[in-house]
Amino acid sequence: MGFTPAVSATGATETVASATSKKSRQGRKTWRKRITSVLVLGAALGAMGGAYAMFATSSGADGTSSSQADIDAGQQLFESSCITCHGANLQGIKDRGPSLAGVGGAAVYFQVSTGRMPASGQGAENLRKTAKFDEQQTEQLAAFVQSIAGGPEVPQGNLLLGDDKLAEGGELFRLNCASCHGSTGKGAPLSAGAVAPGLNEATDRQIYTAMLTGPENMPVFGDNQLTPDQKKAIVTYVRSLQTAKDPGGSGIDRIGPVSEGLVLWVAGVGALVIAVLWIGAKS
Ligand code: HEC
Ligand code: HEC
Repeated sequence: MGFTPAVSATGATETVASATSKKSRQGRKTWRKRITSVLVLGAALGAMGGAYAMFATSSGADGTSSSQADIDAGQQLFESSCITCHGANLQGIKDRGPSLAGVGGAAVYFQVSTGRMPASGQGAENLRKTAKFDEQQTEQLAAFVQSIAGGPEVPQGNLLLGDDKLAEGGELFRLNCASCHGSTGKGAPLSAGAVAPGLNEATDRQIYTAMLTGPENMPVFGDNQLTPDQKKAIVTYVRSLQTAKDPGGSGIDRIGPVSEGLVLWVAGVGALVIAVLWIGAKS
């Protein structure tokens, strides 16, 4: 009896010892795992931060001020792609293209980033197409035209406001834009064969520069008509239209709940009738 505890104690200590060593080995393993995952996470975050910083500084550098180098690069692009219609001094060329005096970098940004310019030929309505120039080249072209001919500048920085401005933006959109672009911004035909395009592809800066410069039949919304903050509210609203989900599946062009129900009825009842006919034919 006297020995039993000793034996069991040694046994116990042995198992306890082996258990603790196993545990600590496992513990070390999980710690190592944790440390590696922390390191991996850290590295990933660092890489992301670095990439963001690179991106942010580069886009900031492009935007803040256009350097002489940008203007020179823009001039070269202009001379190879635009000069035939707009002239070496931006004075315009009869029957080819209008003068660009006073249209500003904003008009160039809008026209070039939406692929409308360089135009393929005169007379044709210039519709949105794949842009020929990338963002940097577009900015360079804008900087060049701005430096020669003045006018509204390409807006910089964040053009979106918080969700609390959505209602105001919607109100302003219905007042100023919906008559041509439709209340959901999907576009609509205008008189004389012209079309107000859908707004589902336009970026923040394209929406803003469209308002600033009034392409073709669209009026110019100068800062007297719509303050910069009102323009931003509209940009915020138009962008929200682009991302709005269609509740209940297919939007059917957002024609409304009643007509959507009607479509369901027609399709659903149609399917039922077909099923009934099929069962009838089988029996
Ligand atoms: C084939 C001829 C042609 C070429 C090439 C061309 N344009 Fe145009 N551009 C036009 C015509 C025509 C218009 C007017 C019709 C319109 O506004 O859609 C115009 C309009 C514009 C406007 C709008 C002017 C305004 O009053 O708002 C800008 C800005 C512009 N062009 C810039 C450029 C730039 C920059 C290039 C070169 C990348 C270029 N264009 C190349 C023919 C041309
Ligand atoms: C009188 C009719 C009219 C009104 C009002 C109008 N637009 Fe337009 N808008 C047009 C036409 C026409 C075009 C196409 C111009 C072109 O192709 O050169 C256009 C083009 C645009 C584009 C370019 C779309 C793209 O994808 O290329 C945007 C963005 C835009 N409008 C926003 C607005 C906003 C925002 C308002 C209100 C502040 C507004 N428009 C008011 C007629 C109108």
